[in-house]
Amino acid sequence: MLTYRSVDADRYVMDVQHPHEALESPEAEIAVVAGALDALQQAGILAHTRYDEARFLAHRQAVRELFEIPWTAITPRMQRLIWAINAIAQPRNLLAAGVFCGNTFISNAGAAVGPGACYTARNAIGVEIVPAEAERAERNVRRIDPTGVARVVAADAVTLTAQFQEPIDLLYLDADGAGGRGKGVYLDILEAGWSRMPEGALILAHNSVNCAERLKYYLEFVRDTRNCRASVNVILDREGLEVSIK
Ligand SMILES: C[S@@+](CC[C@H](N)C(=O)[O-])C[C@H]1O[C@@H](n2cnc3c(N)ncnc32)[C@H](O)[C@@H]1O
Repeated sequence: MLTYRSVDADRYVMDVQHPHEALESPEAEIAVVAGALDALQQAGILAHTRYDEARFLAHRQAVRELFEIPWTAITPRMQRLIWAINAIAQPRNLLAAGVFCGNTFISNAGAAVGPGACYTARNAIGVEIVPAEAERAERNVRRIDPTGVARVVAADAVTLTAQFQEPIDLLYLDADGAGGRGKGVYLDILEAGWSRMPEGALILAHNSVNCAERLKYYLEFVRDTRNCRASVNVILDREGLEVSIK
């Protein structure tokens, strides 16, 4: 199992109701995320590690000013990491499952839409099963992206992923449902989209650390090289992100 772990991951703690508060110096945050991107490049998951700092900061500022976020577990390090992975991989079609108020979704889609956009995507779709949450997430996203490329729909991510007809270049997993077969729903969603994920597609799974037990079957699947070419558990905070390449 491949792991990238920052030395202070356990001590890096945010207040989930105040996600915009700085927890460390910008230099420290940039260095930790650079270490993670290096590990992903070494594993063959990313082609390079460069991203535009000014665009990332424009994205961060727009989210701070325009999004209604009741709470989020996405730490500033995680926000930067997810945005950078998208900015580097530039997925044409992105699906994000279990987006709650949309903060995780826009951390992905913000590389393609809004003031931090650095490429043009075809579709960036966030899926949220609770209609009221999906509505709030959609309201938030509309404030940043007037184009409609990024959008949030109220649906079960397993169903929507199964019905999505185009190639899925990046799948972000954050849905906390139990799954139809008594396991974390991540694997159900991944299996629903698997046949439309091209070789080289990326899969990002939040909570690879604090929900590792519940995600046991999912993590076994992506860490099996018969399924995914490589998979790295990126531990830069207490939640973690498993990053895998098909
Ligand atoms: C814990 S929240 C994610 C929050 C995110 N990590 C953050 O910090 O902002 C998980 C979301 O997944 C949604 N969800 C659960 N099962 C789902 C499913 N099958 N399809 C779509 N959304 C789902 C829940 O309603 C919830 O809003």
